[in-house]
Amino acid sequence: MELTDIDLLDRDVFTHGIPHDWFTYLRQHAPVYRHPEPDGPGFWVVTKYADVVTVGRDAHTYSSDSDRGGVIGLEDQQIEADFGDAKIMLMMDPPQHTRQRKLVNRGFTPRMINALEKHIHDLAVDILEQSIAKGTCDFVVDIAAELPLLVIAELIGVPVDDRHKIFDWSNRMVGSEDPEYSVSDDQANDARMEMFLYANQLAAQRRDDPHDDIITALLGAEVDGDQLTEMEFNLFFMLLSVAGNETTRNAIAHGLNAFLEHPDQYAKLVADPEGRIAGATEEILRWASPVMYFRRNVTQDTELGGQALATGDKVSIWYVSANRDEDVFDDPFRFDIERSPNDHVAFGGGGPHFCLGSSLARMEIHVLFEELARRVPQLHAVGDAQALRSNFIGGIKHLPVALQPA
Ligand code: HEM
Repeated sequence: MELTDIDLLDRDVFTHGIPHDWFTYLRQHAPVYRHPEPDGPGFWVVTKYADVVTVGRDAHTYSSDSDRGGVIGLEDQQIEADFGDAKIMLMMDPPQHTRQRKLVNRGFTPRMINALEKHIHDLAVDILEQSIAKGTCDFVVDIAAELPLLVIAELIGVPVDDRHKIFDWSNRMVGSEDPEYSVSDDQANDARMEMFLYANQLAAQRRDDPHDDIITALLGAEVDGDQLTEMEFNLFFMLLSVAGNETTRNAIAHGLNAFLEHPDQYAKLVADPEGRIAGATEEILRWASPVMYFRRNVTQDTELGGQALATGDKVSIWYVSANRDEDVFDDPFRFDIERSPNDHVAFGGGGPHFCLGSSLARMEIHVLFEELARRVPQLHAVGDAQALRSNFIGGIKHLPVALQPA
């Protein structure tokens, strides 16, 4: 292989699965690599664990701010999203980000998340039993996609009758590059407007009639006398609906695929679901890394891995590669539910943007696979896994399986 063989802009490559051989080559030969771009200046590709963590933690040198280019997209394009002066917190830097994060943390307390556990458990069991009763199912559509959608709707306090709206809006807003899900810009914009309107109505309703839920907590949250503005609330509502969906879905889908490919590991889980599920959850997250990269933008000339980076350069940090770094993970291509330690970076490298939903996502994966292992002693693929066409989300669209109960 040569560096010139590598083209991370070629989305079609990802339809055959994640190009791990490219990342392995990059880690070995060009850990901080300036990737060319046909109509632009190119972008840095950072593939080693230590460098990914360095960049993710240094928001001063490596900015997430949407005014500098934001965190999504490798090509040299400005993300067009007209929110006035407001931004989503994922695309802010400190101190602006710090203020927002403190406010939303008030809604995302361990108490709030723990209060959801029983509900998540009931939802997971219900979803699993329906598919088990059918005998065969598309694990992604019927199970992996279903649970996160229901959990997010519950989390943000959307009444049961309105849940399908959230599904529909978030699916339309993500604007997929896979032809199976493609939507026009107009459809995406309409979805955003409808969602904002809905968020406003829900906020007004909660102000009149407070509940013990995240929405009510967010509306009342105050830090130093400061509250979320209406637009900030709308944008956060949108970020939550999108951020927790495809990510968790694909972690679960990759998890099942890994168990199909490593039946010995599934047998271990089945032998002791309660004892082994915590380790299995972390290994699934490492293995899946569904958010493959996020981008940063250089604010001052600097140096990384022996390369000189200039102000304005785009830097992509590849969590999916860091999670297979041979210097950190022993035999990284072995799927091992007892791996220890397992300090993966699937939720980010520990900087200010570290995933707000990490405990919730962990809980979903944990509950779902524990209950699956209790009910289904053996898994059988009845068709091929189909990968998503995207160089951002490492996704599986379809995964037909037979689930035979004990
Ligand atoms: C397996 C599932 C998930 C994965 C792999 C994932 C991954 C990530 C990553 C990599 C980041 C950026 C970290 C950084 O830049 O340092 C992030 C941020 C974020 N995630 Fe997640 N996530 C998942 C599930 C969720 C869920 C369930 C929610 C919400 C309910 C959520 C909400 C967020 C939010 C709001 C941010 C932005 C935080 C900030 O800017 O301060 N995520 N996530």
